[in-house]
Order: sequence, then C-alpha cells, then structure tokens
Amino acid sequence: MPDELENEPAVGLNADEAALLTEMPELSGIGQSRRAFMVQSAVGGVGLFAASLLAEESALAQMPLAPDAAATMTATPNSVSVAFQVNGAPRTLQVDSRMVLLDALRERMALTGSKKGCDQGQCGACTVLVDGQRVLSCLTLAATLEGREVTTVEGLATGEQLHPVQAAFIKHDAFQCGYCTPGQICSAVGLIAEARRGHVSHVTNDVAQQRPRLTEAEIRERMSGNICRCGAYPGIVAAIQEIHSGRQAAQTWSFADEAQLARATKEGGHETV
Ligand code: FES
Ligand code: FES
Repeated sequence: MPDELENEPAVGLNADEAALLTEMPELSGIGQSRRAFMVQSAVGGVGLFAASLLAEESALAQMPLAPDAAATMTATPNSVSVAFQVNGAPRTLQVDSRMVLLDALRERMALTGSKKGCDQGQCGACTVLVDGQRVLSCLTLAATLEGREVTTVEGLATGEQLHPVQAAFIKHDAFQCGYCTPGQICSAVGLIAEARRGHVSHVTNDVAQQRPRLTEAEIRERMSGNICRCGAYPGIVAAIQEIHSGRQAAQTWSFADEAQLARATKEGGHETV
C-alpha cells in the first residue's frame, strides 16, 4: 500500500456504513478505518460474481503448479488453439483466450491493413468480414473463430486485380489519409452483400421490398459505424452507389501528365490538376 494511504488517519463510519456493518457482520471483524471499509464496499459493489471470481483467483494463486505447467502458463497465459481461414489460407494459432481478432491479425499474422482506431467499437477502422459478414475485429475474440472464414482488406483483391469496391474507392477519390479506408472498404463489401440478401435498415421506407435500393440515405445510415476524420464521405457514398447500381459514373480526376507536372513545378507547384 502506498505510504500516503498507510499514513492516512482512520475516520469513523457514517450512519449508513454502520447500518451496513450491522447487516453484514462478516465485515465487522475487519476493524477498519473508513478507507478500508470503503474498499470492502467497492468490491461488494462489483457484485457477487466478481467477488467469487476474486476468491477463485486467490485460491488458484495459492495452489502449487507442476513445473512444466507453470512454464507453459508463463509462456502463453490462458492459451487456446484456434484453427480458421484467413484470406483463403488455413491458419492455426495458439492465442491468449482474451486476444481480439484485430490484435491476432496485426501482431500474430502481420496483416496490418485492418487499423486500430479506437479499440472499443466506435470507429469502424478495424472492420473485417467473418463468413462474409462485417464485424468489428477489435470486439471479436480470436478464440471464437474456430472453423470460420476471415477476410481482411488484404484478401479482397485477386492477384493484381482490385476488388470492384477497392477500384471504385480510387475512382471516386473516397479517401484522403487512408487510415479508415480498409475498414470502410470491408464494411462496404459487407453492406452491398447485406442489401442483396434483402436486409433492411433503420431508414428503409418499404421493408417488404426484396432488395432495398441503396439510396444516399441508406448508405449513410448503413455506413454510420465507419468514421472518416478526413470527411471523405461523398466519395465513399458515390463508390458504393456505383457498385450497387452497376451504373458507371465518370471519374472526375486524373493523374497529371508530364507536361502538367513540369508546368506546375515551374509555377511553384501550385497548379491544380
Ligand atoms: S478500432 Fe475497432 S471500432 Fe475502432
Ligand atoms: S481518409 Fe482519413 S480518416 Fe478517412
């Protein structure tokens, strides 16, 4: 215990605390300062389940371990084996049962396309597909994926051939810094498949239609879990609409040719191309 707590003077109990001690005599033997009483109360506030877990953990901590078991636990705590497909290839990993898919992808398989934005399910940067459905990999335990098929942004292209959604994102200039883009693209692929399967959304007017049309409002609603701090939303919506509708829109930008680049360099690099 830190010195400042050790040295803190004991303070008497208030009426509520004294009443609680009367109801729970098991606490009364602890004989405590107000600080100690409050710590007890806080643990109690977590609930019986947490208290029993704490008791169990404490009991386990006191049990002697066989030397080889102790070594294994130190090497991979809470280790479980999980076999699944990642981008079409079979993978078997020994993971901590608490490891999330995002960390398994990035740290164990070097698949760093999926990004860690918030790590708490708020931004969508970590979106991947599991059995074709979009999921937040930062909230998905790797140990739950036994036998499942995971597709990340690295697995969408076929050789040098980009996935149509990837190509549409480039065509519609649907990104700036690109940090959110892998999650946006995986989410868009999942979204288009959902619409084809007839899934409706919060803004679908006619829920009886077989295949809801992806209007701008539909796309914005369905992509609302994917945040883009660069504000590339108009391009993202246009890219998804093009793939969903099959109607080709004109590309509104092009790479500069050499003459334009030379002219821009001569004029101070400010020419817009
Ligand atoms: S990193 Fe998963 S939602 Fe933000
Ligand atoms: S392109 Fe920068 S965050 Fe989306």
